[in-house]
Order: sequence, then C-alpha cells, then structure tokens
Amino acid sequence: MKAHNLSMDSFWIPFTSNRAFKKQPRLVERAQGMYYYTPDDRQILDMVAGLWCCNAGHGHPQIVRAIQDQAAEMDYAPHFNFAHPAAFEVADVLTELTPDGIDHVFFTNSGSESVDTALKIALAYQKERGQASRTRLIGRERGYHGVGFGGISVGGIANNRLQFSNTMIPGVDHLPHTHSIPGNAFSRGLPEHGVEYADELERILELHHPSNVAAVIVEPIAGSAGVLMPPQGYLKRLREICDRHDILLIFDEVITGFGRLGANFASQAFDVTPDIITTAKGLTSGTVPMGAVFVSGQIYDEFMSKPGGAIELFHGYTYSAHPLAVAACTATQHVYADEGLFQRAATMAPVFEDGLHSLKGEPHVIDVRNYGLMGAVELAALEGQPGARGMELVQKTFDAGLMIRVTGDTIAFSPPLIMEESHMQQAVETIRTLLKTL
Ligand SMILES: Cc1ncc(COP(=O)(O)O)c(C=O)c1O
Repeated sequence: MKAHNLSMDSFWIPFTSNRAFKKQPRLVERAQGMYYYTPDDRQILDMVAGLWCCNAGHGHPQIVRAIQDQAAEMDYAPHFNFAHPAAFEVADVLTELTPDGIDHVFFTNSGSESVDTALKIALAYQKERGQASRTRLIGRERGYHGVGFGGISVGGIANNRLQFSNTMIPGVDHLPHTHSIPGNAFSRGLPEHGVEYADELERILELHHPSNVAAVIVEPIAGSAGVLMPPQGYLKRLREICDRHDILLIFDEVITGFGRLGANFASQAFDVTPDIITTAKGLTSGTVPMGAVFVSGQIYDEFMSKPGGAIELFHGYTYSAHPLAVAACTATQHVYADEGLFQRAATMAPVFEDGLHSLKGEPHVIDVRNYGLMGAVELAALEGQPGARGMELVQKTFDAGLMIRVTGDTIAFSPPLIMEESHMQQAVETIRTLLKTL
C-alpha cells in the first residue's frame, strides 16, 4: 500500500463533477486481469473494461512486454514522409479483421480523432469524386461520437452540446434515436419493433435533397447514451437507403469493435457493411491511446487515382501510428486471436444475458437490454433528480468492490472479454443487493 497525501486541486477531471469527486474520490492504482485495486489494496471487479476498452483484461503480460520492448527499441517515429515498418504490418493484420472491401486504415489516437477523421475523409471524398455539393452530415439523437467539434455536431447528447452550441459545424441533421420504442423493454438481443425509424432518413433526404448529403454516421449500438439497441433490420435499412442515394455510411465502432459483440466488428455481427468504420479503445485493449479509421477500397482509390505525386489527404496527427501504440496494438491483436477472445465473448453472451435479465423485477428496474458482452440495466429516475440514483449506485458499488458505468440512471456493463461466470454472478448479486438500498 502506498501512502498518498493528495491535494487533488490541479487535475481538472474529465466528464466528472470535480467538486463531488474531490470530496469523495474513487481511486484505483493498479490492475490485473478482471480487477482494479485501490490505493488501500481493495479489489474492485471491473465490469466495464475500464471505459469500454480493456477487452483483453488488465496487465496482460504479452502486451506489457511488447510495450516495454518497443519503448527501449524506438520511442517515436514520424509518419509524415517517414514511416515505421511495424505500422504497415499492423495495418495488414487489422484489415484482415474488417469486412471484405474495407481494406485501408488511417491511424489516430482516440475515438474522437477517429470520428473527426472519418467525417473529414467523407467530405473530402465527395469533393474528390466531383460531388462537392455533398456537404451535409447526418448523425442521430443520443449518438456519442466523442468530443471534437465534428463529433459533438453529429452527436446527439444534449449536455455534450449545450456549452458549445454556437460553434457546432453547420449542415448537420439527426435521425431519431431508437430508445423507448413501445414493446421493446426487456428485449433479449435486438428488439423487435422500430425498423421504420430508419425511414426517417428518407424524410431528411427529401428535405435537403440527397445530392447535398455526404454521409450518415451512427453507432451500431449506441453505447455512451446507455446501450441503445438498433431494432431488428434497422441498420440494414439505413444501408439500403444510403445505397439508393449514393451516400456514405459510417459505423462508429469505438465500443462495438474488437470482439465486444462476439464478432470482430458489429458490421459482421449484424451483417451490414458500412463504407467507413471508426475505432479506438479495444484496438489496443486500452493500454496505449490509439484510434483507427477503416475505409473501403473505393474511397481510398478515389484519393489515389489523381495524377501526380501530391499529398492526397491534408490530415494526420504527430502521433498517428505511434510506435508504442503500434506495438500495443500488434500484441493485443495476437492475444485476441491466440486466446480466441471474440469467440469467448460470443460463448459468454448467454451467461451475461441471463445475469442481467435476472434483475428484472428488482426495485427501480424499468428496462434491461443486451447484445454480446454489452448491456444495460435502466433504473427509474428519482423524481426531479435525474442521474442521482445512478450516481448513488456508482458510489455504493465501488464501496462494495465493483466498477460499473452509469449514464444518467442507466447502468452499463461491458466487461473484459475474459469474464467468467463467477464474475457475472458477483456483479449481479452486488447490484441486486444494492438496488434494495436506493
Ligand atoms: C462510439 C464512440 N465514439 C467515439 C468515442 C470517443 O472516444 P475517445 O474518448 O477515445 O475520444 C467514444 C467514447 O466512448 C465512443 O463510445
């Protein structure tokens, strides 16, 4: 145990009530496998994979060693006009995992950067192919696409936009969200009702005319807004409408990518292939910041087909394909493959589903939803105090040795893919007990 005497004043904590947190901090200091450990060495079961990212579990020795070795070998390599061979190698490994036809990758450092990169590629692509009028972007209510100006503009979480509302990028519309559709509460897997919500895209296109629209971006399952499922057939219908009007479809798979749904990507789990896939988080199992944007050959070739040797895309980051991130990514992908973790997620999904749905009927529970190893238990809000019940549960679960994530009054679960049945039992019984105290 380390002694700490923290003033806590200097660090402005993201997406957190700093004043509340600093009065009652929840600190973790080391991690291994399915567990975090507090500074006083209490074990905390991690049922959110950190923040939807540590899919291989914490402290995997193969990944740790790869990062250490790379730090000693070469700390940094520029990727503007120079390159590190390992970046090409990992790009090949990754594009083996993506759906057929999605075979090129642009590296970033986070989900937010991946989203803004994807939006820029979509806009530039339309220009490159002579369709410069296609500038409008369509997101979805309750969508979360990170915190860049592009991401909050296509995103649909009101609080994330409110403080910046005059600086949104122009020309963005939003599809309706697919939450709370009558008849869908307590669905197991994809809910039955609501495929027609995709037809709203036609209505938006009628208003603006398809020739003015560049791309549609959605999370296949909306994560940060509380694990909101696409109704059966909904994503396929979005794809059909985009095809009909020659509009790009972007899947933001920052959470759903890399095994979370028991397949490489949601695109494969739901058998719908977009034109662009954004990723981060599970790409390196959260060990080193890294994001990746996967694009179709059609998009890539459009940029490469111009005569001459000019730069094809005026975009990139100092840390694109950072050697430590590439090393972490390469090792992580080997671990996923060698340990069959995506298949393991599929195998554990029924255990996860049964565990979550056993909470139906407990106090305050108004919905349970799940797919793969991604799920949520929604609680009724306290009268006039939305989010208060959720935050109380976060504290109580942490005190009881469990880490969950809440958005508002919805508890989200996205455990590392190494989760075992006993972990699920522990999590569910802890929540069951605590629900009676709220
Ligand atoms: C779907 C989605 N897109 C983008 C992001 C932003 O990622 P980051 O926090 O790495 O910028 C997130 C983060 O949770 C996400 O869930």
